[in-house]
Amino acid sequence: MAKTTPQSPVDFAQIIPREHTGCVKYDARRERFGRADVHPLWVADMDFAAPDCVQRALAERVAHPIYGYAIFPDAFFTTIQRWLSIRHGWVVARAAIVPLPGIVPALNLLVQALSQMGDGILVQTPVYPPIHQLPLNHGRMLLENALISTPQGYEIDWSDFTTKVAQARLFILCSPHNPVGRVWRRDELERMATLCLAHQVIILVDEVHADLVYAPHQHLSVASLSNEISAQCITLNAPSKTFNIAGLNTAYAIIDNPNLRATLHTAVQHTGLGSGNVFGITALIAAYQQGAPWLNQLLHQLQQNRDFVVGYFTENDLGITVVRPEATFLLWLDCRQLMQRLHLSDDAALARFFIERAGLGLNPGISFGAPGSGFMRLNTGCPPSVLHTALASLNHSISEDN
Ligand SMILES: Cc1ncc(COP(=O)(O)O)c(C=O)c1O
Repeated sequence: MAKTTPQSPVDFAQIIPREHTGCVKYDARRERFGRADVHPLWVADMDFAAPDCVQRALAERVAHPIYGYAIFPDAFFTTIQRWLSIRHGWVVARAAIVPLPGIVPALNLLVQALSQMGDGILVQTPVYPPIHQLPLNHGRMLLENALISTPQGYEIDWSDFTTKVAQARLFILCSPHNPVGRVWRRDELERMATLCLAHQVIILVDEVHADLVYAPHQHLSVASLSNEISAQCITLNAPSKTFNIAGLNTAYAIIDNPNLRATLHTAVQHTGLGSGNVFGITALIAAYQQGAPWLNQLLHQLQQNRDFVVGYFTENDLGITVVRPEATFLLWLDCRQLMQRLHLSDDAALARFFIERAGLGLNPGISFGAPGSGFMRLNTGCPPSVLHTALASLNHSISEDN
């Protein structure tokens, strides 16, 4: 693959075939959609090459032919500290960083370690399916604070939040939020955190989309708001979405509270999840040290992709509406009018329409919880031409069936 210096323009138009590379997005299509020929616009990774700095660092590491157990070197911690400080204005202590093999594994461990059977766990639906499924998977009580859909975007139902937080042991906050694309404002974060403090509810915050925020919005880590909040907060993050390296299974937590940190350390050690991925560590260091210019270009491309798709649904009356996301490369499509028009009786019929008539593989909204009924989630992390083809195909199938 052609090399670029960090300053040279990245070619986000290039189609890089991914079939038969063992990737979920392409190679699990038959299993997931019943056919292998749908345009895959689902699982949240991108069809763009990882930055050159990451490719180079990995190639160099691969060239050394021994891939034994890894340590987390100093640079792992210092580059995370530097990234969070420069990119997000958040100064974290080195000791607060806990290496992890992934955010979802960590959430599962934390729910088990910090709550008992039957305890309430508060989540804001529709939400990333593993977060939605976590409480019930572990025999906890699912407390759903359904977000309110408005023409301007999703808002928090405060009276419901206030009632439910009082019954909760843990609150899993998705910030920025997948799939509704909200970047929570300071006042919203403060209000949620204050209510959690009042009820001794521990906040587990998943910030994996924090780097993928569009101006003028700005990500704010809830733990950075005050020492009191930070003491009751576990922040989870990774370079996986930002630099398209999710298959390298490397993430981290930031935990100021020594007791909470010890709890996670113990859970990680007791499950054998504490040893690092030699390639994931290499990639994280390279990406955080040298990947910022690439990321700035990526954000520009993702913003264009987002605006193209939002514009398309505004200009073409397909019975699908979408609110412009403030973050993430994921678009949350409201297909309820389309369902009425095409007499699609339920979510299964909607999903079938997308696969069989439009030839598109999206995530059904219902998998994000009941408020996702009638929605589909579309991944725009791909060359613009792929989106053009996919939307034309969708448009054609709707006109045909109308
Ligand atoms: C909100 C959110 N959290 C976590 C993940 C996955 O994290 P990991 O691969 O580190 O388990 C995703 C992936 O789509 C996500 O959207």
